[in-house]
Amino acid sequence: MIVARPEEFAGVVADAVESLVRRRPTPVLGLATGSSPLPVYDELVRRHGRGGLSFAATTAFLLDEYVGLPFDHPESYRAVIEREFTGRVDFDQQRVHGPDGQDTDLHAACAAYEAAIVEAGGIDLQLLGVGGDGHIGFNEPGSSLASRTRLKTLTAQTRLDNARFFDSLDAVPRHVLTQGVGTILEARHLVLVATGEVKAAAVASLVEGPVTAFFPASALQLHPHVSVVIDEPAAGQLRLADYYREAYAGKPPWQTL
Ligand code: F6R
Repeated sequence: MIVARPEEFAGVVADAVESLVRRRPTPVLGLATGSSPLPVYDELVRRHGRGGLSFAATTAFLLDEYVGLPFDHPESYRAVIEREFTGRVDFDQQRVHGPDGQDTDLHAACAAYEAAIVEAGGIDLQLLGVGGDGHIGFNEPGSSLASRTRLKTLTAQTRLDNARFFDSLDAVPRHVLTQGVGTILEARHLVLVATGEVKAAAVASLVEGPVTAFFPASALQLHPHVSVVIDEPAAGQLRLADYYREAYAGKPPWQTL
């Protein structure tokens, strides 16, 4: 879906999250960090503040985590998501899970994370951003499309992109734990958000390019229920943009994301 106005973007995604959270007694959300979902989190915080929207019964699973950063490090994804979203609403922090990048046995930590997702009944709605190189979670190019939660090495470009959150490039960890592409594909609804011209090439590859491990986000084409929510600049390289606009404009009212 291509939204015409930037304000519309957060509302459309927040509607999908709100509808899930109101519908399911124990909803399970998959949360992404990074800049792309921030307007969505702000909108959900507003809806919580206006009263009515409660996350008290919601369980959350993060996509990924740096290896070696303590939970109380401001850039650990557990700290980031608490600061940006879960700590600003009534989430029970015990229900907010991330892969444990500090475990002395990282294999066991990844297996435990997969088991925790299954134990919670699977993820109902997974929010995703996309890296310029096609990564989802931290599944860098070359990631198996069947991969499960595991250790990955960040590319030099991803470390450079994320250096803006750290004091220096050297401070950006080289290793991460991430849900695998296969893990992500098991969520019941995937919602990928991307804004700005800087994401235009990645959006075109993920929506219209070939399915390839070299561009892991293209694996979303294999999922039965994916919503790609983007603004006009991010739609700049889509060949069928007019068709997508027309389809969204003519959408029957009962059809949600
Ligand atoms: C973050 C994550 C990453 C980001 C991606 C885009 O948990 O999994 O895949 O979604 O790096 O980041 P932004 O949104 O900052 O452009």
